[in-house]
Parts: sequence; C-alpha cells; structure tokens
Amino acid sequence: MPRKLFVTTALPYANGPFHIGHIMEYVQADIWVRFQRMQGHKVNFVCADDTHGAPIMLKAEAEGITPEELIARVNESHKRDLPRFHISFDHFHSTHSKENEELASSIFLALKENNLIETKTIEQFFDPVKKMFLPDRYIKGECPKCGTADQYGDSCENCGAVYAPTDLKRPFSTLTGAKPVLKSSEHFFFKLSDPRCVAFLKEWTQDGKLQPEVMNKVQEWLGDGEKSLGDWDISRDAPYFGIEIPGAKGKYFYVWLDAPIGYLASLKSYLDSKGQDFEKYVNDPKVEQFHFIGKDIIYFHTLFWPAMLKFSGRKPPTNVLVHGFLTLTGEKLSKSRGVSISPQKYVELGLNTEWVRYYLAAKLNSKVEDLDFNPEDFIARVNSDLIGKYVNIASRAAGFITKRFNGKLTEEPLSAGRELFHKMRGQLAGAAGTPDDQVPSILFEVRNFAEQLAQDYDAREFSKAIRQIMFLADRVNQYVDEQKPWEIAKEAGQDAALHWFCTLYLELFRILTIYLKPVLPKVAEDVEAFLGIKPLDWEDVMTPLKPGSVIQPYKHLMSRIDPKQIDALLEPPEAPKDAAPTAPAKAAKGDGKGDAKAETSGPDFALVPPEPPKPPVILPVSDTISIDDFGKLDLRVARIVDAELVPDADKLLKLTLDIGIEQRQVFAGIRSAYNPKDLVGRLTVMVANLAPRKMRFGESQGMVLAAGDGISIYLLTPDGGAVPGMRIK
Ligand code: 2FM
Ligand code: ZN
Repeated sequence: MPRKLFVTTALPYANGPFHIGHIMEYVQADIWVRFQRMQGHKVNFVCADDTHGAPIMLKAEAEGITPEELIARVNESHKRDLPRFHISFDHFHSTHSKENEELASSIFLALKENNLIETKTIEQFFDPVKKMFLPDRYIKGECPKCGTADQYGDSCENCGAVYAPTDLKRPFSTLTGAKPVLKSSEHFFFKLSDPRCVAFLKEWTQDGKLQPEVMNKVQEWLGDGEKSLGDWDISRDAPYFGIEIPGAKGKYFYVWLDAPIGYLASLKSYLDSKGQDFEKYVNDPKVEQFHFIGKDIIYFHTLFWPAMLKFSGRKPPTNVLVHGFLTLTGEKLSKSRGVSISPQKYVELGLNTEWVRYYLAAKLNSKVEDLDFNPEDFIARVNSDLIGKYVNIASRAAGFITKRFNGKLTEEPLSAGRELFHKMRGQLAGAAGTPDDQVPSILFEVRNFAEQLAQDYDAREFSKAIRQIMFLADRVNQYVDEQKPWEIAKEAGQDAALHWFCTLYLELFRILTIYLKPVLPKVAEDVEAFLGIKPLDWEDVMTPLKPGSVIQPYKHLMSRIDPKQIDALLEPPEAPKDAAPTAPAKAAKGDGKGDAKAETSGPDFALVPPEPPKPPVILPVSDTISIDDFGKLDLRVARIVDAELVPDADKLLKLTLDIGIEQRQVFAGIRSAYNPKDLVGRLTVMVANLAPRKMRFGESQGMVLAAGDGISIYLLTPDGGAVPGMRIK
C-alpha cells in the first residue's frame, strides 16, 4: 500500500539568501522524499519563507523599503536556488499569505475556545525613541555578574551567566542607544501549563517515536512535576510585521506562532491549486506528517507545535526528524580565515551541486550529530568514490558498445548469457554457487543489496547506504579488472563475449544508478537518457536492460573536482573598507536561534545589498573621575602579532599583542568588525595594567581600545612613528 506522506523542512527566515546549513537540511529531506517517491509512495513535500518578526521589519526599514518588498526579493532568491541544488519541493510558499492568516487565526480561536488562551499584563523594556518594545537581542549592557560591557540581554559571553534583560547594568537599546524604560502591556499566552497539555505532551514525546537524544532533551524540559511547562507568550505589540490577532487591534502573533502554521499554509496553497481538499487530507489518519528540523528548534517543534495542533482539534505530527549543525573545518577553513561556504558563490563558480549532495549524503545519518564539512575530504570523496568508482564503470563499458556494436546491447539475456559466456571463454564468469546459477554472481550480489539499502534510506542512514553502494561499485570495478574486456576486445572470435560482458557492466551500472538516484537525481536522469530507459524506480532493480536495445553515445556524466575550484570558493570576500562585519564561519544553523534570539539574521551574501549606514549612537558621558584615577591607567602601544577566531564565541577574537617588553594574550569583542588576518601586524592601544581575567577560553591579559556605539567597532591606532611598548598619556 502506498504511504501518504506530508513532509516539510524548517521554514527559512526571509532575511537573506540561503546559507550552507539550509542546503544541508533541504538535501537531507530531499533525499528521503525522492527515495519514498521511488518506492511508489505519495509525498507532498512543501516549504515556505518565514517572513514575520521584528528583525525583518527593521531590516526593511534600514534599507528604506517595505517588509513586503524585502520578503519578495528574498523569496525570489530562495526560489532561484532550490532547483539549482535539485531540491524537489512541490511548493514553496510564504507565511505572509492569506492561507497562513486564515489558519493562524482559526487555530488561535480554537485554542481560545478550548480555554487555553489567557491574557496577562507584563512589564518589558521599551525603547522611548523608537517607540517599540525591544526583543532581547536588541538590548545590550554590562553583565550583572562580571561587568563585561556589550553583552546581550539574555547571557554573558564572557562568564556564561544567564539573566533577564532587566538585570543588565547600564542597559541600552542597540537600535537607538537610548536607555530602555520598563513599560507594561497586555500579552496573550498559550496555557501550556494546563494539565491537559502536559499530559498530552508527556505521551506524545515519550512513546518512543523521537530520536533518543531528542527524547532526553524534551524529558528535561517537561520535568516530572505537573506544572513543569511555563505558559507561552504568543503576542507582540505594534509596530510588528506579522499577523494581527483577531479581535485585538495592535497585537500580533509572535513569529514563532505563525511560522509552523506556515507548513499547513503552504500545503493548503498547493492542494488548493490542484483542486484537492486540504482539510480532508490533513485530517486523514493515514497521512503521516514529518518535519525535518535542526537541533536548535526542537523546543518549538516537540512542545509548542504538537500542542497547538492537538488542542485546536487537528492531528499532531507523526514525528520531527532532527539533525545537527553543519560545522566547517579543514586547512582551507582554518580558524583564522573566517570563511564560510556560500551556496550562491558555489553555483556562480559553476561547481556541480550534485557533488555537495553526494558529500552530505556520505556523512548524514539519523542521529542528532553535527556534520563536519571538510573541503579536503569533500574533494577526495567526490573524486575517488563518485568519479573513480561509480562513473568509471559506465565509461569503461560504453565505448565498446558504441564503437564495436553500434550502440546496441547484446540480444542474449544476461542469465542465458552466462552459459554462452562459459562456452566461449571456457571459464567461470563469477564465483560459483549463487542461489540462481543462471544469474552471474556479481549481478546477484549487486541486486541483492536492494532491500538493505531501502531500509537504510528509509531510516535516514544515508552514510551507511553510500558506504555500501561504494563497496558494490568497488566490487564491479574489481570484476571488470579481472575479466579485462580490453584484452577480450583484441582476441579474434570473442565479439559475442565482449558484447555480453559490456552489457553486463552497463546493467550493473544501471542498478547502482537506482541506488544513487535519491542523492544524484540529475546524473540519474542523464543515465536514463544515455541508456534510453524510462525514469528508474526502486523496483526496476529486478528488470534488466532490454536485450538488443540501443544506447546513446556516452557523454561524460560528471567531472572531477579541481582543487583550484575549491580554493576559489573559499577565497574570503574582500572586506569593504569601512569594516563591514564578516560572516562567521560557524555552523550555519547554530547562529543563536534559541528563543531569546530566535529572530537572529543569518549572514548575507551576493543578492542582498548591504544595509545603509545607520547614524551612530552616542551615549551620555559617564560620571567624572579624578586625574589620579586616570593616572592609574597604564596604556601602551601594542603590535598585534597574531589574531584568531575563538570557537564557540561569536563576538571574540584572540589577539597576541607585543608591547616591547613582553607579549600578552587578550580576548577582544571585535570579531564582528574584523577579519583576523587583516589585524596581524597592525598597531593598536592596550590597557596594560588591567588585572588578568579568567575567561572560558583562557586568560585575558589586558584590553584593547576601540571606539563604538554597540553596533560598529573601530579599533584605535596610534599615528605613524609610535612603537610597541610606548606609554600613552
Ligand atoms: O530557525 C529558523 O530558521 C526558523 N525560521 C524556522 C521556522 S520553522 C517553522 F516553524 F516554521
Ligand atoms: Zn559576565
């Protein structure tokens, strides 16, 4: 019985082009979906842009355009990139759509009807200049615990303390520099602490469907007590770019309320366009609903989302399928280079996107493990596995068929051919003792993996599947090497044997192509055209090439990676003169999208123009100090002799400073403004007699001086002639 599958990936924020982390998730889901389709299952695979929230509103404002214009531009870039990476969504919609408005409102009203919505008055920081409530990420100040300046409203990057924005010392709005004031406002809450929700979520999360790591995490959040979950604040006050709450003027759904509803909105828009009944489909108990997501958004998808669906009278998801982050390592991505992999640049350089699909597949499994993208390993795997093993089989066989047999395959069925071959060659074609001795053993061996590989694909154990497929490709190459068709080709009277042999190689290649088709859809399409066959499904493993059929002349299916292409890809972008921030090389989906910073923008690439400069934020002058106080400061000219990124600290660089008499190690919060390599050799100013501070990453032995407004940072440099160690007075 064909399964009915409704599959989604997480919806990307509509604030910039895709980054490599998005591509990884889409490729993972796409491989799974393509495999299910090859099995004959019916899949609806949809996605959409996640368009709402304060960051998108503010970004549009900074660019002098409307949020609608911004999200339309990003949507165009997203829709352009998807087919380039062969991502086969049936539909790519938007949360800023009539379907989403209707569904969000109806789900909210159903929850209200069910007594699961309440209003409470809460106090929050408000920017009196911008006249808006400030999300945590727009508030900075000094850490209440260790006093480090320039810390976000939720946690300190220096000492790791976690606090509320209202605990910060000298807080300021990063939008205007103004001191935020506390203001109260009425908010809507989804009563997740209601015993009905707690009971349901305990069951939904603990019945064994979730990956073990996910289940453990969720168990921690749910706790043991009855009232373990807090109620969820689902409203935001105007000005906000979002969906207005029915019956509550000036109040909007928080972006994380309407985002997952966007899954349904995209499906509805797709089914409507095909004249199918959306409500009937989503309520069908036979429909299985799967969401592929990253590990940073488990909370939303295993607690909020199933509860929203359940208590609005809908069917909760069948499962959420969680993957880890993509990390980038290797010589070419070494810490000090600060480089990321831009999917847009990848395509613009003309690199084959199926290389990336293959590499990701070779490393993905069903666990919540981070996946390391290492350029050296990438080149090696593609060149030696994909080209050296798989593509090689076709190129070895096709030439003979074309040149010696006019592109026609042998008339002899491969099973009968074995007898024929024995007679002609007087030797065995394969190892003896196969269960069906009419079938050459190598063919039997390759066919025999179909079931195991299907299980691996279904279980998202792609790396295991790829390992096995490459093992089979090795076996086939070994077989060709043993039989030496190039020698048979030189022997008189051996045409029929050569013909039969090369046909067998192509048949083996055809089966390997079926196995790789979920990963390499374009190559598979080219192979289908080359062999003159209909699109391959999984069950075609057992249906060999038609005896006597004609193939097309072989065209190269895929080229090798030239390491120079990867050098070009990883060449850091020219930093604009005025120190525009460099995109951190860190894991793409790991850029702080937890609740407090759920609306963080990702790094921007080619298509999105840089934001116009904002007027600098000038803070009021601090309390007066005496000349004696000032005299206590020992400021020195320092040369930066080394600078590197600090793993797990988005804002820091580790500097080694030479002050003439000694060298110092200083952790400076300047990463957003400087490429480490651009700093090496440069002079700056440091506080040399500051007490050393123990940080998570090591000891910081001083401080460098920089001007800034909480957003931009400008390192100080002495005039020419100053040398390391000179005292500054
Ligand atoms: O973390 C993110 O990138 C969110 N835009 C994901 C939303 S997934 C779903 F809920 F819409
Ligand atoms: Zn601190």
